[in-house]
Amino acid sequence: YAFPHIPGMDCSGIVVNVGSSVERLKVGDAVYGNMGYGNAFAEYVRADESLFALKPANLSFAEAAAVPLAGETAYEALFQQGEITRDSKVFICGGPTGVGLFGIQLAKAVGAHIACTSSSRNMDTVKKLGYNATENVSEVMKPNNDDLLVIDYTKYNFGEILHHQNYDVVFDCVGGQEQWESAQQILKAGGRFITIVGDDPHSNLTVKNIVTMGAGVINRKFWSLVGQEPSYIFHILKHDYRHLDDMRVNYIETGKMKSIIDHVYDFYNLKELHEMYDRSKSGKAQGKMVAQIIKD
Ligand SMILES: NC(=O)c1ccc[n+]([C@@H]2O[C@H](COP(=O)([O-])OP(=O)(O)OC[C@H]3O[C@@H](n4cnc5c(N)ncnc54)[C@H](OP(=O)(O)O)[C@@H]3O)[C@@H](O)[C@H]2O)c1
Repeated sequence: YAFPHIPGMDCSGIVVNVGSSVERLKVGDAVYGNMGYGNAFAEYVRADESLFALKPANLSFAEAAAVPLAGETAYEALFQQGEITRDSKVFICGGPTGVGLFGIQLAKAVGAHIACTSSSRNMDTVKKLGYNATENVSEVMKPNNDDLLVIDYTKYNFGEILHHQNYDVVFDCVGGQEQWESAQQILKAGGRFITIVGDDPHSNLTVKNIVTMGAGVINRKFWSLVGQEPSYIFHILKHDYRHLDDMRVNYIETGKMKSIIDHVYDFYNLKELHEMYDRSKSGKAQGKMVAQIIKD
């Protein structure tokens, strides 16, 4: 980043002005969107129309601001890369991550069978989604759309627990080589492993790391092409307002998807902003964190 830098990616608010080529949105519209690489933490933002869509009417501005990045990432990974349907079996590494919480809801919304990892600390976070969260594997194998199988990753390896269970998609929101290794034990032939993190959850985007990561991805893609391994897909979010529109109309406003908020912080209180960043960096957030500039 070049300094001075305004952080923040997701935001929601009301359109106060539009350029002459803006066609979809108008002054007064309540909108939500993602600014890309910053500039969202401000009273006023200026962005390309393609990054924003109408805000879901049933969400507050704070709840709506929690959706774009994580929601769109889950949407693209599961629907575009995973092509999941009601017949799919989906496993999410990191159910209680910000992305995972939306992923669970989207998979549930299409009627897929869904299982995920969570720590016992986060069982309550997952339960906020309202499904019948259970750690009992045999119970979940019965078809019931309210069931959500949750495996405590601090005690069990999901690859061993669900060995040969023929999952169609493993969506990795956690990262680390162990997710890929366990996933191979549960995916069916031709199944897809979709990661948004890769082997090293802590790596910075240096040229060396990108080259190493690229070589690893190519190697796994080769073995999946010759039929020896499941497909390995590294997904990076591509913003598209049509995804936000589709999430609003078909999932959020129909009550199938909501934001799970860890905490709403006061934007004008520096101590609170520090706390928000510390919590984000700790990797212990239990849902999304929001900095509120104007109260709903
Ligand atoms: N490629 C892309 O376009 C893209 C887009 C968005 C995000 N990402 C990446 O996706 C990852 C997830 O981001 P996020 O913001 O959604 O995460 P997050 O909300 O920060 O995730 C934190 C939560 O994950 C839990 N957790 C950690 N390890 C876990 C495991 N093995 N199984 C289950 N839960 C686990 C933590 O609790 P416990 O410690 O108690 O388990 C904590 O509650 C990040 O690495 C982020 O950079 C990539």
